[in-house]
Amino acid sequence: MMQSNQWIPLFPEQASSFAWQVDLLYAYLIVVSVVFSIPIVAAVFYFGIRYREVERYSTPDEMHGSMVLETVWSIIPFVVSMTIFLGGAIVFYNQFTPPADSMDVFVVGKQWMWKIQHESGQREINELHVPVGRNIKLTMTTEDVLHDFDVPAFRTKADVVPGRYTYLWFQPTKPGKYRLFCAEYCGLNHSGMGGWVYVMEQRDFDNWLSGNISGQTPVEAGKDLFENKLGCASCHAGGATQRGAKLEGIYNEEIKLVGGGTVIADDNYIRNSILNPASQVVEGFQPIMPTFKGQVTEEQLNSLVVYIKSLSPTAAGAASSSAPAAVANTMPASGNTNRSTNPQANANAAIRGTSNPNAPNSNR
Ligand code: CUA
Repeated sequence: MMQSNQWIPLFPEQASSFAWQVDLLYAYLIVVSVVFSIPIVAAVFYFGIRYREVERYSTPDEMHGSMVLETVWSIIPFVVSMTIFLGGAIVFYNQFTPPADSMDVFVVGKQWMWKIQHESGQREINELHVPVGRNIKLTMTTEDVLHDFDVPAFRTKADVVPGRYTYLWFQPTKPGKYRLFCAEYCGLNHSGMGGWVYVMEQRDFDNWLSGNISGQTPVEAGKDLFENKLGCASCHAGGATQRGAKLEGIYNEEIKLVGGGTVIADDNYIRNSILNPASQVVEGFQPIMPTFKGQVTEEQLNSLVVYIKSLSPTAAGAASSSAPAAVANTMPASGNTNRSTNPQANANAAIRGTSNPNAPNSNR
């Protein structure tokens, strides 16, 4: 149950570090609305009575303006609107600037469920377990349509958009069980696309994490795809003779492109380079890389992105200490010999290993 211990259940419980900021901003908006509405309504009645028609066709005295009045009714709304703007901008900036020390969690939306994977490889569906007091950063995408990851108790939500990554972060402040919703209409069972966020003490979280078989971590899964299943290593590893662009140390660096442009090698760039390799070709290379669109699932893409990120150990928050520095040493003799014939089968196998297979309504 959603804990609501407030006298007026106007807002859900505050359970994240910035929840109070959102509530304060809303309280301010309510106060401003009340402070303006009451005098206006009162004035409507007062003037209606005070200046009612007492003599037919009477001519009122004219008034030719007042500097004081004009100044006051310009400055007050200016101050009110600017404080609303500044308050909103500060809250927005806080909410969409994930701290560098965040714990990464990967989210894939799908009609009609949330698929979640932790850095340890642990998977869950429609449930998210997190430790209290830690900064949690969600890297999110979707397999199909637009969804929206929404946890009212944390006072944060963000759209989950096909074809790119979006981010959300929060620091849970209280252990408990909080509602998770999809807040973007996404088809027939949109209303059932939700679940629970479990905020646990660090010790309980560690127990939960160790009590489940997690299989490959995302970095390991990405390495496996890179070196074996997709054969990326045949071009992107091999030192001076490699045909593909260097991937070590590129994360968050500026990359020069053919045609003179530059791009920052962030998650979305890496993702796009796998799906649309011809759209952003690195300077000095030929556009010979085939597209992997349709051959990799969103979860596999996530894994590839974290693996490539792990090749840049100096990048802030480089995903895992298991980052292998020497891809070159493990280059297979031939890139295509190990290519999986059916990546979808691998993904399905991975999903079957989850602790809570596809049970959107089991906790309601
Ligand atoms: Cu997913 Cu609404």
